[in-house]
Amino acid sequence: MTTVLDVQRFKDEGRRFAVLTAYDYLSAKILDEAGIPILLVGDSLGMVMLGHPTTLPVTLDDMLHHAKAVARGAKQALLVGDMPFMSYHASVEQAITSAGRFVQEAGMHAVKLEGGGRVIEITRRLSEIGIPVMGHVGLTPQFVHQMGGFKVQGKTDAQAARILADAKGLEQAGAFSIVLEGVPSKLASAIAHALRIPTIGIGAGPATDGQVLVLHDMLGLTSGKAPKFVKRYANLAEEVARAATAYAADVRDGKFPGPEHEYSANGSAPATDSTRQGSPRTRGEASEFVGSEEVRYGG
Ligand code: KIV
Repeated sequence: MTTVLDVQRFKDEGRRFAVLTAYDYLSAKILDEAGIPILLVGDSLGMVMLGHPTTLPVTLDDMLHHAKAVARGAKQALLVGDMPFMSYHASVEQAITSAGRFVQEAGMHAVKLEGGGRVIEITRRLSEIGIPVMGHVGLTPQFVHQMGGFKVQGKTDAQAARILADAKGLEQAGAFSIVLEGVPSKLASAIAHALRIPTIGIGAGPATDGQVLVLHDMLGLTSGKAPKFVKRYANLAEEVARAATAYAADVRDGKFPGPEHEYSANGSAPATDSTRQGSPRTRGEASEFVGSEEVRYGG
């Protein structure tokens, strides 16, 4: 199983690594079996899975629900639960309680928190009690209203200095890694070189130690245009629409279900066409019927 020590080793040995978001059992299982070492149950699920315009409406209960499903699917990856807006902002005690639920109830191995400043002290306290923390600076979506939108951060010298200082503060407080989101590549490179712990970039150029993408962006399973920093490795939205249209046409034309999808009393294919009133299809031979008798979803 990947641990935070492995993640540090990746950096020490100069091995770049991939991180992806996972929000459900099946995608976690697939990504885990594909060897992705870190899965992030990101609060981006509020936008991607739940249709909210920002991540702000996502609750701790929403996150725990998805995190539990991911933990059921993944066996090898380091699992990081994203602390949602208002689950750690009120006090250190609230942060400890929320982070504890991610570990104790949802089976996460670490948590992620956005921002520097006061979050540095929260990071220190969580690290002290054995909950590994992934920091997150730069474009921090929970600050969307303060940033005036989802905008690249760190373009001015003052902003860049502040982000670098926050990253250093998080490292000193015990964070095991830091996400750098939506910052100029030059700044990300400077931070990656200044820190001992691994940096994980998203929209931060090639110099960070790891890269993270939202799974649905990477798979092209979205309804809009991809942002500039996303590379699409598949076009699943088109593929899903094509498959759904083909299925609907098959149902309309009586082509689905076919003989191979049917059950009969004795386990062989139903005998004749005459058992199906009005079906335009030609039935297969009974001996060709090879179907699972187990009636199960998602198999
Ligand atoms: O919520 C999320 O998925 C994230 C990553 C994009 C870093 O914070």
